[in-house]
Parts: sequence; C-alpha cells; structure tokens
Amino acid sequence: MQNAYISGTGFYVPPRVVTNDDLRTQYGIDTTHDWIHKRTGIESRRFADEGIGSSDLAVHASVDAIAAAGIDKKDLDMILFATLSPDHCFPGSGVFLQQKLGLCDGDSPKFVPAMDIRNQCSGFLYGLTTARAMVTSGQCKHVLLVGAETHSAALDLSTRGRTVSSLFGDGAGAVVVSATTEDRGIRGTWLGADGRFALNLCQKVWDIKKRPFIPMNAEGVGQVTPENAWAQMDGKIVFKHAVEKMCLAVMQSCWELQIELKDIDLFCFHQANMRINQYVAQQLNLPDEKVVHNIQRYGNTTAATIPILLAESERNGKLKRGMKVAMVAFGSGFTWGSAVCDW
Ligand code: UT7
Repeated sequence: MQNAYISGTGFYVPPRVVTNDDLRTQYGIDTTHDWIHKRTGIESRRFADEGIGSSDLAVHASVDAIAAAGIDKKDLDMILFATLSPDHCFPGSGVFLQQKLGLCDGDSPKFVPAMDIRNQCSGFLYGLTTARAMVTSGQCKHVLLVGAETHSAALDLSTRGRTVSSLFGDGAGAVVVSATTEDRGIRGTWLGADGRFALNLCQKVWDIKKRPFIPMNAEGVGQVTPENAWAQMDGKIVFKHAVEKMCLAVMQSCWELQIELKDIDLFCFHQANMRINQYVAQQLNLPDEKVVHNIQRYGNTTAATIPILLAESERNGKLKRGMKVAMVAFGSGFTWGSAVCDW
C-alpha cells in the first residue's frame, strides 16, 4: 500500500485587518481589546469584502498549495472542500472552486470529483482522513483539500452577538495530499463526534421540518429571527469539552502509534481560543516552542485554521521535512479529530 503525504501547503487571508478596537469603533460593539485579548488571545482578524465568498478565498490558497506541491492543477484527482460558510446552500463550494481553478477550461478539462465536508472546526481533519483514504487505496494520486471560511458575512456584528462575533475571522488554507512510496506521510488520523451537543454550537438559519422551512411575511419574503440567523454558542461548555477532547485526542494518537509525546516535534492545534490551547499544552506538559499559534492575527477561521498554520509554519521555518507533526481539532457537533504526520 502506498503512503499519503502532504506534498504542498498554501494559504490566503483577505487583506482587510479588523482589530479588536475596530469592532468597537467601526461596528459599534460594546467591547474592549482587553476583554477579547485576555479571554481568547485574539488581537485582530481578517474580514473579506462584500462580493468575496469562501470559494474565492479557497482559489488563492489552492493555487499556492498546488505550486508548493510542484504539480499542475490538472494532476489533481479530487477536491475536498471543508467549510461551514459555503457560498450557497447547494451545490457545495467544491464545484465552484473546481470551476474557478480553471479545471473545466481548455482542450483537456478535468472534471474531478468535488466533495464538501461539513464538520466545522474539525472539517480539515475529517477531510485529511478522507484524502488519505483516497490516496492510500490507490483511487487518487493527488487530492486537493481546502478549508475556507467567510465568517464575516454571517456574524452578528452587534453588542448582542459579541460573544461569538469577536472570535471569528475569514481565511483559507489548503494542502495537496499525494501518493508516495517513501516511508513518510500521514501515519494516522482519529475522529470523534458527540451529537448530544449538536445544538451547543450551531447556526440553524432554517428548520426543514417546518412549512415553510423559513417563515415568510405576507409578501412571501423569508423572515429569519436573530437566533436562527446567527451562530449560537454555549461558550463555557464548548471550552470545557474542547480542552478535554483535545487532550484525549493527542493521547490517542500517541497510543495508537506507540509513540510518546516527546517524539512529536510540532503541535498544530485548531485555533479557537489561545486559552484552550494553553490549557491543553499545560495538561500535557508540552514545551512552548513545540506549539504554534496564529490566532492572535486571524482569530478562529474554523476549517482553515490548521492548514493556514501548517502553511505559515512551513514558510517561517518552524515546520521542516523529517519532523513529526500532530494536528488536533475540536468544534461544533461536537466533533473532534487528530492526525500525526511525518513531514
Ligand atoms: O471552534 C470552537 C468554537 N468556539 C470555542 O472554542 C469557544 C469556547 N469558549 C470560549 O472561548 C469562551 O466561552 C468565550 C471567550 C467565548 C467567552 O468567555 P466566557 O468567560 O465564557 O464569557 P461569558 O460568555 O460567560 O461572558 C461573560 C461576560 C458576559 O457579560 P455578563 O452577562 O457577565 O454581564 C458577556 O456578555 O462577558 C460579556 N461578553 C463580552 N464583553 C465584552 C461576552 N463577549 C464580550 C465581548 N466584549 N466581546
């Protein structure tokens, strides 16, 4: 059986920087830099301008990853698109990305399968598991896996929504997962979910059990209440479960691979809250220099956090060939996952 490895990484964040102070001064939210920074570690995030969607952010990250992998876009055999902020309800954003990448153009279009993954903050690791399976089973040689989010359009940027809206930012990260006969690559991935907490972090928008599924006014125009329009989160429960499950996910990776924590050279945790990751690092007694963060600059970009972190870490020299890298995520669902790669 061939191995699957990450042959290229890429990322893109929109240019508009929104600081914690900007949330107050530009959006009128009753908040302070100190409140947000003290509880989450976030200093700023990026917001895309109107007219830009998740597939647009994903194109940039994908082009970057494809170039880093040293392949042509038409070498791709499959697209996996992880997002909770797809361009539209359907079809999935993967087909928009396929078309925007130019795969359908020219004399030899490549109509690769495109699949969307709806696992929120764990979407990248659910996608990595799928990509690895497609490669190691011999069905694909190169799979493009993208995590991209345009949260800014769907945040309640008012004082009412401040607990959630101060956490999230826009961005995209991508990897190419390729086949290799070398003794390297993704050594294992482990996923979990606990549906009892499905509504503790959710954005309902509609209820398909109802007729009509979105209430209409007398003119037939859809009326979505704020509780349904915007993401709702029980932050304290999410925080507690995140720390617990992320610690367990790291330990499970080590146990399954029969390695020790000290064998791991770099930890790339999902960037939901710096304090969550500090607790996890503290409980596992991980040295600071082995845990990378970028939440200060981007906030929580959900499915994009880990691939952005991988791409940045490669580019700033913290992630190098031969290192053993652990990735861990937790989020809405609740869902979680971990992966270990020999880079
Ligand atoms: O990817 C997974 C997604 N999410 C997470 O991982 C998030 C996990 N949870 C958390 O990180 C934390 O729960 C938060 C940072 C979101 C919130 O921290 P908290 O200590 O749980 O605060 P809280 O929600 O209990 O709110 C405490 C107070 C409230 O005021 P009152 O009711 O005590 O008067 C909030 O209204 O802080 C207020 N508050 C704010 N104040 C200023 C909430 N958000 C803000 C804000 N600025 N942005």
